[in-house]
Amino acid sequence: MNTTYHFDDWDTPAPRTAQDTAARTTSAVPSPCDAAAGTPPGLALAPVNAADKRIVNGKADINQLAPFKYPWAWEFFLKANRNHWTPLEISMAQDVHDYHHKLSAAERHVFENVLAYLTTSDILAMRNIGLAVMEKMSAPELQIYQARQVYEEALHTWTYQHCIESIGLDQQEIYNRYRVVPEIHGKIALANRRLERVMRADFDLTDRANLHEFALSYFFFAVIFEGCWFYNGFTPVFALQRRGLMKGAAEQLQYIMRDEVLHCAFGIRVVRELLKEETLTLDPQALRTLWDEAEAAEHAYASFILRDPILGYNAELHVRQFRFIANRRARQVGVEEPFPGAENALPWLDEQANLRKEKNFFETRVTEYQTGGALAWD
Ligand SMILES: [Fe+2]
Ligand SMILES: [Fe+2]
Repeated sequence: MNTTYHFDDWDTPAPRTAQDTAARTTSAVPSPCDAAAGTPPGLALAPVNAADKRIVNGKADINQLAPFKYPWAWEFFLKANRNHWTPLEISMAQDVHDYHHKLSAAERHVFENVLAYLTTSDILAMRNIGLAVMEKMSAPELQIYQARQVYEEALHTWTYQHCIESIGLDQQEIYNRYRVVPEIHGKIALANRRLERVMRADFDLTDRANLHEFALSYFFFAVIFEGCWFYNGFTPVFALQRRGLMKGAAEQLQYIMRDEVLHCAFGIRVVRELLKEETLTLDPQALRTLWDEAEAAEHAYASFILRDPILGYNAELHVRQFRFIANRRARQVGVEEPFPGAENALPWLDEQANLRKEKNFFETRVTEYQTGGALAWD
């Protein structure tokens, strides 16, 4: 039988006769959308039902944004877009002078190694979301915020590169430092191991053990890697900023921190929803191991970057603050606090995170970056 094609039916031959129509309703090859939506082939596709969407393993059409099942994810996307900024808008001129003429050897050691750790970390964060997480999400509103997050992690990498270039640090030496300094490498290696486990080609999320592994990995990256290590990781530079040093770099880190707070909050929400949808409980022993490994790696890292304390900041304060923030994150996810009784060692940190207050205090810039609404943190 000859079939007539029309120029606008670019992917489907138009039925020309009653016989054609009958044939089409009974033997047409189902499209991926038919299969995804569970619609009998050839019939008009049923609208997506939000209730059919799932964090992972969903069957609803992934290409249709609304109706939302996770409207909060769309709100995260809108909020992230109101926070737009670039590192070129912040002056680094005073930092060049500070680094070469004002910082002590111990302070330069702290500053350089924080940068060395962060440069590698943000690339890992980008790869985790872009390569290991996004492809497993089965609701488009989740993927869309994560696409923005991938961009922001790249923006953060650009920011560190901008700081390294502006100050005139040896790029090759700084970028290679995580490979030759065991105390920096320890944190990166932990994250790499998590990432590799969920990026295996045969990783099937319909398997409950794999699903648990994925939830644990997502927990690690959102709660520990971004929510604790990043959140707490900027503080040595903020300690310099509080003394009027390296204010440009510190301001750059404040913008990064604002993004990271959203990443962490989004990740925690995803983990909570995933556990609920899948009636999954994170294994307490696996969680304990995660926290203990993270604390040991953070302790080694702090002992290296702060082998000599700087004014107002030392390794013990850094680790104590890690434990305090870890408890806060655990409460947000709804799991047991890993370090009961940990106290807030740096009560200024949350305030430091508030860009507007900090600007007023240090009078660094008057520009308000946010394009709409008020700044909000966790
Ligand atoms: Fe980042
Ligand atoms: Fe992040």
